[in-house]
Amino acid sequence: TKKVTVPVFVSRKESGEKITVLTAYDHPTAQLFDERGVDCLLVGDTLGMVVQGHDSTLPVTMDEMVYHTSLVSRGAKRSLVVGDMPFLSYHTGVDEAVRNAGRLIKEGGADAVKLEGGVVRAETIRAIVDAEIPLMGHIGLTPQSIRRLGRYHVQRDAEAILADAKAIEHAGAFAVVLESVPLELGRAVTEALNIPTIGIGAGPHCDGQVLVWQDAFGLNDDFTARFVKRFADLRTEFSKGVDAYIREVKEGTFPSSDNSYR
Ligand code: KIV
Ligand code: NA
Repeated sequence: TKKVTVPVFVSRKESGEKITVLTAYDHPTAQLFDERGVDCLLVGDTLGMVVQGHDSTLPVTMDEMVYHTSLVSRGAKRSLVVGDMPFLSYHTGVDEAVRNAGRLIKEGGADAVKLEGGVVRAETIRAIVDAEIPLMGHIGLTPQSIRRLGRYHVQRDAEAILADAKAIEHAGAFAVVLESVPLELGRAVTEALNIPTIGIGAGPHCDGQVLVWQDAFGLNDDFTARFVKRFADLRTEFSKGVDAYIREVKEGTFPSSDNSYR
């Protein structure tokens, strides 16, 4: 099957075929998602929470994002790989933002980058796109704004979010993630834009959907948001395997002669 390039991704807006996106942070996971036909792998800065064990995305560094993006890129043959720009990698000036976006492409092997914010980031988005770096926006609930927001909760300011969406499209982004907004607003933004919307907690009318894979497949026992559906229960399966390993080693049934060299 053919590579999901940026133009292929964008063409789904018109064809109506839904776009599937999952996060990925390492090579084996990327390979599996790629093989199964996931359209786009997002190396999210949720890395900080689901891989590194922090309680927000704020501590994630540019070097860490480049490293994890490179692991995912090596595992993706067909999927479009998007590298997330971490907190403070694009807030201090347009030049630094372009350089950091470029690192995700040059060193990380990504096909595109993503950053958070709408109207306030329009100039930065334009500069990155002008440097030939395809960019995905991210509006609604923006987790890098957690210190200002105070908590992660649904965003309902329709006027502001529509303005952000239009600013992102106008600045040249090829897609936008819409996080934690009412489904009516998900629909309104999707209808207002010519670029695809990728929803997470934004209802069924978006052009595509994204989930954090540990949430989607049940490898988190932490709090899960309303918008998460568990498509598998990996925690239970994984636990069974670990329990069996411990039991058999303690009992002396593993390794058997079949598992041993003569
Ligand atoms: O970092 C991330 O995983 C994300 C998605 C949840 C959209 O930004
Ligand atoms: Na993110």
